[in-house]
Amino acid sequence: MLRIAVVGATGAVGRECLALLDGGIVPVEQVVPVGSARSVGRDLGTELALSLPMADLVTLDDLDLRGLDVAVFSAGAEVSGREAERLASAGVLVVDNSSAFRMRPDVPLVVPQVNPGALDDRPASNLVANPNCSTIQLVRALHPVHELAGLESVVVATYQAASGGGVRGLRELAEGSRAVLDDPHAQGVPGGRFGQPLSFNLVPEIGLQDDTGFTHEERKLVREPRRILGLPDLRVSATAVRVPVFDCHSEAAHLRLREPVTTASVEAALAATPGLRVYRRSENPSYPMPRRVFARPEDRALVHVGRIRVEPEDDRAVALWVVADNLWVGAALNALQIVELAAKNGWLG
Ligand SMILES: NC(=O)c1ccc[n+]([C@@H]2O[C@H](COP(=O)([O-])OP(=O)(O)OC[C@H]3O[C@@H](n4cnc5c(N)ncnc54)[C@H](OP(=O)(O)O)[C@@H]3O)[C@@H](O)[C@H]2O)c1
Repeated sequence: MLRIAVVGATGAVGRECLALLDGGIVPVEQVVPVGSARSVGRDLGTELALSLPMADLVTLDDLDLRGLDVAVFSAGAEVSGREAERLASAGVLVVDNSSAFRMRPDVPLVVPQVNPGALDDRPASNLVANPNCSTIQLVRALHPVHELAGLESVVVATYQAASGGGVRGLRELAEGSRAVLDDPHAQGVPGGRFGQPLSFNLVPEIGLQDDTGFTHEERKLVREPRRILGLPDLRVSATAVRVPVFDCHSEAAHLRLREPVTTASVEAALAATPGLRVYRRSENPSYPMPRRVFARPEDRALVHVGRIRVEPEDDRAVALWVVADNLWVGAALNALQIVELAAKNGWLG
């Protein structure tokens, strides 16, 4: 039985962590919700109708580290960068959802279905990094195809939901959409969580552009899959786009392989992989869609892959359409599956 702190418990990811813990994903003795000073006094157990053994919400300064096994951080890179190592040095295993530690060699970057071996032993740093949300669903779809025929390169376009921008992003999409429905000429104003108005719009810039012209989100999609898949030379090119859907990221991925494949062999490799749901052309619809995936908890826990095609002129070129819930698969669920794996490996709690 574990004592777990959920840092950022009032946020979009933190709330889903609490819900998944309430569902029993790992056995808990007590969950300690942690927020900023403005949330002290909130009763998240009642707000979210949870039956977990929950302590009162505290700030990081007031968090009692004695007997604490794990802290799942979902409070942004600035808070993680400032506080996570203090907890790790006190013996708490920190699973961090932010980008603060993802490229540090002493911090494993883990997707339990893809590189579980990274958690065979407890990291000396006491830190484990959860990859970026769009990376996780991508590598979970790429991994079986790589095992089948060897990945040479990937070109991916993402269609990322407003929930990727947290509670504020969800609120801005709802409020902006109402404003446009009331006045079809309303343009909104630049700024806000997405840099530009998102409602009834597409914003092809997630994070800041660096001096190459690619954005931080696009650079994460290049660097993180290399580390997780153990393919340091994998070529990845990404265009990351924010789209006006509330939940679930979608991705169009074009793969170049070392060996020839058929649509049937790719479908079979994906269908044989636990945690993936494959959509075949004979199904109706023959592809996953964000709203449908979000509708059922059993679907929110899976990576959905459809539109599986091998180019007629090139049997080493494959196209996939991949949809997953960024708050679960891309964040809270992956983080708690890391905790589950650490406990299973016998070095936690
Ligand atoms: N949203 C996604 O799809 C997604 C996916 C993967 C990773 N992530 C990462 O997960 C993190 C959280 O994202 P989110 O979307 O959940 O954001 P969010 O909805 O904005 O939530 C942010 C949370 O951080 C808390 N917080 C802020 N300052 C704090 C402090 N000093 N001490 C303790 N808690 C503090 C806030 O608490 P108060 O309400 O108490 O201020 C809030 O609970 C980010 O690093 C993000 O990059 C998000």
